Amino acid sequence: MTQIDNVLHENRSFPPSDAFRAAARISTEAEYDAMWRRSVDDPEGFFGEAARALPWIKPFSQVLDWSDAPRARWFADGQLNASAVCLDQHLTTDRRDKTALIFEGEPGDQVAYTYAELHASVCRFANVLKSRGIKKGDRVAIYMPMIPELAMAVLACARIGAIHSVIFGGFSAASIRDRVEDGACSAVITADGGWRRGQVLALKDVVDEALVGEAGASVHTVLVVQRTANDVAWNAERDVWYHKALATVDADCPPTPMNAEDTLFLLYTSGSTGKPKGIQHTTGGYMLGTYLTTRYVFDLRDDDVYWCTADVGWITGHSYIVYGPLANGATCLMYEGAPNQPHPGRFWELIQKHKVTILYTAPTAIRAFMKWGDEHVDAFDLSSLRLLGTVGEPINPEAWMWYRNKVGGGRCPIVDTWWQTETGGMMLTPLPGVHATKPGSCMKPFFGVDPVILDSDGSEVHGSGGGYLAIRKPWPSMLRGIWGDFERYQETYWSRFPGMYFPGDGARRDEDGCYWILGRVDDVLNVSGHRLSTMEIESALVSHPAVCEAAVVPRPDDLTGQAIVAFVTLGAGIVGDDDMVQTLCAHVSKEIGKLARPAAILFADALPKTRSGKIMRRLLRDVAEGKEIDQDMTTLEDRSVLTKLQRK
Ligand code: WT7
Repeated sequence: MTQIDNVLHENRSFPPSDAFRAAARISTEAEYDAMWRRSVDDPEGFFGEAARALPWIKPFSQVLDWSDAPRARWFADGQLNASAVCLDQHLTTDRRDKTALIFEGEPGDQVAYTYAELHASVCRFANVLKSRGIKKGDRVAIYMPMIPELAMAVLACARIGAIHSVIFGGFSAASIRDRVEDGACSAVITADGGWRRGQVLALKDVVDEALVGEAGASVHTVLVVQRTANDVAWNAERDVWYHKALATVDADCPPTPMNAEDTLFLLYTSGSTGKPKGIQHTTGGYMLGTYLTTRYVFDLRDDDVYWCTADVGWITGHSYIVYGPLANGATCLMYEGAPNQPHPGRFWELIQKHKVTILYTAPTAIRAFMKWGDEHVDAFDLSSLRLLGTVGEPINPEAWMWYRNKVGGGRCPIVDTWWQTETGGMMLTPLPGVHATKPGSCMKPFFGVDPVILDSDGSEVHGSGGGYLAIRKPWPSMLRGIWGDFERYQETYWSRFPGMYFPGDGARRDEDGCYWILGRVDDVLNVSGHRLSTMEIESALVSHPAVCEAAVVPRPDDLTGQAIVAFVTLGAGIVGDDDMVQTLCAHVSKEIGKLARPAAILFADALPKTRSGKIMRRLLRDVAEGKEIDQDMTTLEDRSVLTKLQRK
């Protein structure tokens, strides 16, 4: 909750310009208030009407069934297909020949697809999957670089009703193995490699390493897209070159009718306990949620060129690179590589070149650009931009102001959007034509979102004040479960405050009813907008033979928001030197992925524990931050442990 100080002193606010407001879809507080009020008082009426904008194959007769809460069923007897929402519906309109996707690879290669072309590519891709026997309900893992075929793979699965499970390209073989096993996936779609900072990431090799044991047994097909033309090992029984398979199929593939509550995808995310959870999203509610938020929060127009810089491996990419923008018929930019490759102005060069009008990125990226220097931004013409967005972690007011002034030229509204893998779409956010935004606040609830702030007893905090954030009502794009573990879903999200969804964040509401996210209140870390569990990193460390015990805590970091600090005790006679730090960092990379590497590993003779043997993480957090320890230490079992730690 390190943002509190900033938050309390922040009183600037920035209304949209008259020009922005005049052209916006919703432009007055009165209009927003009335719509929001109706959306929570009469969600069935509100969302029943809103859902008519989607191309249903079979209309629904009931909007919401919450009688078996927390099992939510939205539009349950309606049928639709997510790929048809994204593609087919545009083919009978002027959007048929509109650019859907502009791709730029890290080395500078480019390709663009119109809606008609993207549709044909997705149909062919879907036919390749069908030719391998993949059918409705099968799980398909996707481990790919950020190339058009990634979006196509996702949409091809949706087209035939296969459940996609995208795994971010930064995860290790062991992480892939866990996910493939948990989902009992029958196929993996990957690429020979992807470009990152001028290097080839050899993705197919990582998949090969992952597919052993149980994971290997369930997977009958590994479909390999050629991207980098590096050598790959080949298993003739299982491996299929995508470009070769394409030659055997045509572009005729009608979308499979899906029930609104059929699972569209799984996306694994970390919680405070156990292995990553397969967050389960269904078709109808998710498509409505991403369609509506994209339309209203980005105030999307037909002539926009929209760029979300996330990776499709995260929920932001699912909802705001693929499903939401395409459902709205937007023109989307997709970029494969690093933001500073080959130079620190690459993003701004892309915006100038493609005349991007809407940019959606993360605070960690903004802070990196600030550090690299204004000259890289100043060198490019960013006058095409009209709206900026941020997501993934709390944004500090300095970064917000820099984003507004340097990138947005002082004229673009900023939408700071708070949401999660589990929520499917944006939950707390300003509407850009309505709200006078405050640096660091995600402002107001989106339609259908009924937030509440609670103290630790679960009593509601009225008016201004801080506490635990919870959501009172179901909303269409909410998760429907954790794959294979409905109880864990109930337990994790609906039991801390009975009858309410608990996201795991703390928040504060100010006098104007604006929300300020204070960060996670559980053992979940946010490093560069990547969500990691302290427990998973601890288990990874302890799985190394040299390690006895490990405790992982966050330390605030100017660039990454939080950095990972690990306190480790080693086996008898093992020396905690620099080599051991390297060994353990490499081990964590192998177990989880590079993104989970600790920024610091501190060796200790013992970890501070309570008399009942629980590691005192609170105390370690203070040690990691270099703070004076003024906490109550009456429960500390052996004070000398702490004195030694502080001396490190
Ligand atoms: C956690 C969810 C939403 C897609 C990317 C992350 C933090 C997210 C914000 C924001 C402050 C934010 C929360 C949340 N978070 N957006 N605008 N302001 N914090 O999705 O990996 O599921 O992580 O990210 O702590 O719980 P995720």
